[in-house]
Amino acid sequence: MPAPSFDNGHLPSYTYLMNSSAATRAIRSYAKINLTLEVLGTRPDGYHNIESVMQSVSLYDEITLRRVPRPGISLTCNVPGIPTDIRNLAFRASALYTDRTKVETGLEIHLNKNIPSQAGLGGGSSDAAGVLRGLNSLMDSPLEMSELLKIASEIGSDVPFFLIGGTAHSSGRGEVVNPLPDAGRFGLVIIKPPFGIKTPWAYRRFDEIQKETKAAQSGEATAALVKCIWEQNIYCIPGLLKNNLEAPATEAHPEITLCKERLKELGALGTLMCGSGSAVFGLFTTPEAAHKASEDLADIPAAVFAGRTLTRKEALEED
Ligand code: C5P
Repeated sequence: MPAPSFDNGHLPSYTYLMNSSAATRAIRSYAKINLTLEVLGTRPDGYHNIESVMQSVSLYDEITLRRVPRPGISLTCNVPGIPTDIRNLAFRASALYTDRTKVETGLEIHLNKNIPSQAGLGGGSSDAAGVLRGLNSLMDSPLEMSELLKIASEIGSDVPFFLIGGTAHSSGRGEVVNPLPDAGRFGLVIIKPPFGIKTPWAYRRFDEIQKETKAAQSGEATAALVKCIWEQNIYCIPGLLKNNLEAPATEAHPEITLCKERLKELGALGTLMCGSGSAVFGLFTTPEAAHKASEDLADIPAAVFAGRTLTRKEALEED
């Protein structure tokens, strides 16, 4: 497992590399948590309509982009087993970007991954958005934000959020993103159990359970949370956490419930599974409180990250 990235307060997401011309960018692509994820129903295209509040957090991957004189895109990654071809969302982002802009350049991309896969933290989607932002910076911004958002939504439902960052309200299949004011600075502990969950499986199992229970679904928790955030009533946030994909995930993996209970015992204000799982998070009063709680989790057979929620400025900052 790579070393956890616990930020120390300095969080630039773009930096110009030392001793390099403008032909290189180093970018931090931050993970997300869903403060709410309400699944409303299936759509004709096979996706589900959702209502969600998404939040950038301080765990990040590092991306290095380099323009090179020879044609083609090459991708390398520090984690063995991660595909480095068109199956990789960062690769797909670079291929779509160069195709749309018709820019003639070769690219070398290196991914240094800290965000675990199949965790519900949006690592692959965040890398894709980081590549789009980084390439647009590298090429002197030929594409408007609206064009970047369009490419992002072709890559995956979560990718547009990572171009907006901070705290945002997502709807549709997740690709309709409206920025919200920053939702305060919470400390955060993330526990990633050794098993992963595939997103299509989580939605499929949700549908099966839904067929049996016929439970009414609404976006009420998200609407209440959005209202609180606009009113900057941030103390309401931990009480409004909700994730409809938690039920299918905990049915298959009861350890998820145990992780949440452990975080509560350690003082979390609220706990929830991240996206489609398998990671869970706990919100704490401060980053220091989160860090202390993470030290008490040294005994569990899981990866533990401590950090905090990010403002939009921090999530997208460019030096
Ligand atoms: O959009 P993305 O490629 O990230 O979605 C991965 C899979 O997750 C989809 O193929 C679909 O099975 C499921 N999904 C869904 N509804 C959403 C988002 C994802 O059913 N809103």
